This record gives sequence, structure tokens and C-alpha cells, in this order.
Amino acid sequence: MEQVADRREIEQVVNEALRELEEAKKDLKLIDALRVKYLGRKGLITNLFKQLGKVSPEKRPELGRLLNEARDTVERAIGSATERAKEAILTSKETIDVTTPGRIPIIGSLHPVTQVTQEIVRIFSQMGFEVVEGPEVELDYYNFEALNIPKDHPARDMQDTFYISEDVVLRTHTSPIQARIMEKRRPPIQIIAPGKTYRCDSDMTHTPMFHQVEGLMVGKDISFSHLKAVLTLFVHRMFGPQVGLRFRPSFFPFTEPSAEVDIQCVMCGGSGCKVCSYTGWLEILGSGMVDPAVFEKVGYDPEEVTGFAFGMGIERIAMLKWSIDDLRLFFENDVRFLEQFT
Ligand code: PHE
Repeated sequence: MEQVADRREIEQVVNEALRELEEAKKDLKLIDALRVKYLGRKGLITNLFKQLGKVSPEKRPELGRLLNEARDTVERAIGSATERAKEAILTSKETIDVTTPGRIPIIGSLHPVTQVTQEIVRIFSQMGFEVVEGPEVELDYYNFEALNIPKDHPARDMQDTFYISEDVVLRTHTSPIQARIMEKRRPPIQIIAPGKTYRCDSDMTHTPMFHQVEGLMVGKDISFSHLKAVLTLFVHRMFGPQVGLRFRPSFFPFTEPSAEVDIQCVMCGGSGCKVCSYTGWLEILGSGMVDPAVFEKVGYDPEEVTGFAFGMGIERIAMLKWSIDDLRLFFENDVRFLEQFT
């Protein structure tokens, strides 16, 4: 009969396993490799078990007992070594290098459009205007009809409208807020309404989405003088008291009379340059006295109340304020542009 493992040989394998485990310390990978080496399918201890079949039946129980013991001992040792290794990972303290230079957090700033909106809102708030808002997805009725722009009106072509359906549009201006507010309230009314507006247009000076601020003041005996006073004060607060302005006759279906406001060119001060096309003036807003037809739509008596309204593009104000020549820069979100407004 072939020589088979005896007690000494088994003890040797076990001792070798324990020694190697001791050496592996807290190295999980190494411990796992040892498990394979001794207890795996072709492991050293597993192999010893295969000899059981070769010994005489009388010796078999004794050898079996020894091998079971050996396997249990190694298994337990691997178990506690694994335990220790995992524990070490959990409790290991990170070492902190206090000399490492700190990371400077990148702190953003308010978008220039937000900054100008806030400034416009602040100036009008100080004059007693209340801030209100309206929906960007708007009924055709409020965007056009209630503002004296019927279905076949040529003014509808001027505004390249995004239609959602026959009756629903993306608002092309903030003026529908006028109609909504007047319909809900009775005079006196003194509101400004900033927000996003949409027109199907895109080039150096047009983007499909841009911002406007609408203003509306309605009451008894509100006159064009009030309109001039409020907008003059606004221009002086926004661009400086030295900047001149003029009211130029214009047309809007929802105001009568209407005026566009120009300010003296911020680049040349009025002497004429490329920015103002050598006119010395820059248009900044549209305005006028609320048309009686609009009052009738919202159920006001035009004999009883009067009022003025104005609307301006916020990006346009920002472009003039900071001499920016391409509107699209506002929407590209390039930090190199944006970080100049901190
Ligand atoms: N809604 C007009 C526009 O978008 C501006 C405007 C508002 C004009 C209020 C007069 C009165 O051009």
C-alpha cells in the first residue's frame, strides 16, 4: 500500500498555513490567496482528504478525524485573519497632509441679466412699483387680442411668434401681464413685470428667448407727464444723471399716443459713432398711454381712468450698460464671459 499522510505531515501543513497567515498580516488579498492554497478545490488540505480512500478501513476514522481537525484549524485562522484585516480597513485613520495647498472653490456670480433685472426692479420699486409675474406659455388672447391686436392685424407679423396651438403661444412680450393684472384688479395699479419672452429670431441682436420688463401705471389723471417723469428718473438712475433722453413718436396697437425712448449714446456721449450708427442716440424702450380699446377689453371705463405702459428688453439695457456687442454671449454660459460681471 502506498505511503499516506501521517499525523506529523498533517501538522506540518497546518503549521505552515498558520505561519503564512501570520505573515500575511492584514493583507486581505493575500489571506484570500492562502485560503485557495490550502482549502481550495485543489488546495493542500483538500488534497490530503483524497488519501482517505487509500488507507485501510481500520485507519480511516483516525485519519479522517485528524484531517477534519486540520481543516477546522486553518479555516478558523483564515476567518479571524480576514476579520482582523477588515477591521483594520474600517478603523484606519486617513493621514492628512496639512501642508497641501487648499483647493480654491469656484464661486459663481449672478448672471449679468439677473443683475440688470434686479437693478431695474430696485429702481422702479423705489418709485412705488410692485413686482408681478405672468405665464410664459400664454393665451393668444392675452398676448394679442386683449392688447388690441386682432387675428389679422399686421403687428402680428412683426413678432415672430412661437405657436403652441391655435390659441396658445410663447409670449412674444411681457405686455400680456398688463391685461391679466388689469382684468384681476381695479385701479390704482402700479406694477412692473420682468420675465422671459420668446420670438422666432436669431442673430447678433436677437435670440429666441430674451427678457423684458413691463411697466404699467393706471389711475385717475395719470398723464404723459407721469410717463416722462418716471422714465427720465429711471434712465438717470440706470445710466447716470448726465445721460440725456428723448421721446420719439412711435406706434403700438395697445398705446396711444406711443413713444420710443432713446438715450444719448453710451459710447460716444451723443457725438456719433458706430454703435449709434452716427445718430448719437440709442433706442431703449417702447411706451405710451394705455389705449382706450385695451381698457374696454379689461372692463375699465376709459372716461374714468388713464394710464401709461412701457416695455424694455433687459439684455439690451445690459448690452448698453457694459458695452457688449453680441447678444448671444448672454446665453452661451462661457465662464470667461460671465466672470467679468462679479
Ligand atoms: N411690448 C412692446 C414690445 O415688446 C413694448 C411696449 C410695452 C410698448 C408697453 C408700449 C407699451 O416691443
